[in-house]
Amino acid sequence: MGKIILTGDRPTGRLHIGHYVGSLRRRVELQNSGAFEKIFIMIADAQALTDNADNPEKVRQNIIEVALDYLSAGIDPAKSHILIQSQVAELTELTFYYMNLVTVQRLQRNPTVKAEIQMRGFNDAEGADNKAGTPVGFFCYPISQAADITAFKATTVPVGEDQEPMIEQTREIVRKFNATYGPVLVEPEILLPDNAACLRLPGTDGKAKMSKSLGNCIYLSDSAEEVAAKVRGMYTDPGHLQVSDPGKVEGNTVFTYLDAFCRPEHFVRFGDCFHGRKVSFDFKNLDEVKAQYRAGGLGDVMVKNFLTAVLNDTLEPIRRRRKELEQDIPYVYGVLREGTEIARAAAAETLAEVKRAMKINYFEEGALEELIAEQTQKYQNL
Ligand code: TRP
Repeated sequence: MGKIILTGDRPTGRLHIGHYVGSLRRRVELQNSGAFEKIFIMIADAQALTDNADNPEKVRQNIIEVALDYLSAGIDPAKSHILIQSQVAELTELTFYYMNLVTVQRLQRNPTVKAEIQMRGFNDAEGADNKAGTPVGFFCYPISQAADITAFKATTVPVGEDQEPMIEQTREIVRKFNATYGPVLVEPEILLPDNAACLRLPGTDGKAKMSKSLGNCIYLSDSAEEVAAKVRGMYTDPGHLQVSDPGKVEGNTVFTYLDAFCRPEHFVRFGDCFHGRKVSFDFKNLDEVKAQYRAGGLGDVMVKNFLTAVLNDTLEPIRRRRKELEQDIPYVYGVLREGTEIARAAAAETLAEVKRAMKINYFEEGALEELIAEQTQKYQNL
C-alpha cells in the first residue's frame, strides 16, 4: 500500500504566512514529490464549528477563503483532493464509535485542548448560559480528528507541532480499535516542518503565535504595501536603540522570519537593500547579516527592507494566482465538490470496514443472510 496524506485547517480566517511556512509550503512540496499515492486536504468546517456554534456564517465565508489560499499557494486539484469536512457524514459516524475508546480523563490531559480551553476562557465562567463552560463538541474534537485521519487510512499527517497531541491520541485510538475489533485502521505518523523557524512562526509583534485575534498576522493575500507596512512595524530587539549598538538575533522576529523565508539567491537579487548612503554591506548569506547585526552597525531599517523584499518575492506569485482564481469562483467550488465526492467514497469504504469489524453491519449484503442463519439456528436449537 502506498502512502496517504491527510491534513487540514479550520476555516476561521484567511491563511497567513505562519500557515505557509508551517504547513502549506511543505504540502505543496510533498504533493509534487510524487511519493504519495493519495493526498487529502480537509477544510475542517465541522471542527471550526465546535467553538463557533454561534457564528456559522464566519465559518461558511472562510471556506472559500481557505480554498483560494490553498489553490493560489500551489495545491493542485489534479494531485490533491480538497474536501469540506461537514459534507462527509461518514466522519461523524466514525467519531461516535471512537468516542467509546477514549476516556474523559485522557481527553482532559490533551495539552493542546487544555491550552485552547484556557485561551478561549471556557473555564473562567460558570453558570447557566451557553457561553460558560466547554462545549462537549469542542472537548471531543481530538476524537473527530482521529476520524478524519483514519477515514482516509492516512499514513502521514503533515502538521505543526501543536497538533502532535492529536496524532498521539489518534494512534491510541487506532491501537485500541485494532486490538478490540481487528486490524482495520492505520496508525498515522506526524510529519513536522523541517526548519526550526517554521515550527511556529511568531506574530509580527513578537508574541509566540501568529493569530487573527492578536492582529499580528501577515496574510497570504496581503498586498505588497500591506506587507511592507507590517514589516516596518515589526518587533525586533528592544535593546537595539542606536544603529551602532550590538543587536540580538535570538528572539528577534525579523530574523526568525528571515530564517523561515530567506534563500541564498535573495542576496543576489535584493542585496542592494544593504547598500546605504552612509554604510554599505555585501552580504552573501544570512549568517553574515546576523554576525554584523550582533557586532553593531547594522540598522533595523536595512534588515526590514530586505525582509520585505524576501517576503514579497515569495508572496507575489501567490497573490497573482489568487486574483485570477477570485475571478473564477465556480471553478473553486467545482474543485471542492469533486474533492469532497472522492473523499466521501474513501471514507465510506473505511466506515463499512469498521462496522463490519464491530459487527454492526446488520443489513449489509451477505451479512443479513448470515445473521438470519445464526439466529434461526439459535432459536431452533439445532
Ligand atoms: N486541528 C487542525 C487545526 O486546527 C485542523 C484539522 C482538522 C486537522 N482535522 C485534521 C489537521 C486532521 C490534520 C488532520 O489546524
